[in-house]
Amino acid sequence: MKPILLAVISAQVFASVAFAQTDEETLKAGKRQFRSCQACHGLEKGDNRQTGPTLNGLFGRKAGAAADFAFSDAMKASTIVWSDETLDQFLASPQQAIPGNKMALGAVKDPEQRAQLVAYLKSATAP
Ligand code: HEC
Repeated sequence: MKPILLAVISAQVFASVAFAQTDEETLKAGKRQFRSCQACHGLEKGDNRQTGPTLNGLFGRKAGAAADFAFSDAMKASTIVWSDETLDQFLASPQQAIPGNKMALGAVKDPEQRAQLVAYLKSATAP
């Protein structure tokens, strides 16, 4: 009985240490994922491109509301406010989350990759 308990405890300690260390790793992984977005999206204030709006100040903002970008009517009409959850849902299935939006990107299918992206965006889009 005792060795099993010890094994369980040490596994949990190990897991939490590993988790603390992965935070930095998560951001790095998210930055790598963002390579598939940066052809179209900037992260700096006012960096709207022909291909996509800046993602600066994204969290807490309504979809399709970044200044000076010609969003689709679908995006403008959406009532979604960007948060961890809504971004995750959007990236999981852009056309289902906001039908008719004009972002030419398929789904990011892997939940772990989406979590990494969201974590990275949260740190990189702060206004
Ligand atoms: C081919 C260009 C392209 C790529 C690649 C792309 N996007 Fe977009 N994205 C757009 C366009 C265009 C819009 C505006 C869509 C509209 O108005 O319907 C948009 C909108 C968005 C929005 C909503 C912005 C707002 O202010 O409401 C988010 C969030 C977003 N993209 C995230 C991402 C992420 C994360 C990736 C990478 C995984 C990505 N995009 C890849 C073109 C792109």
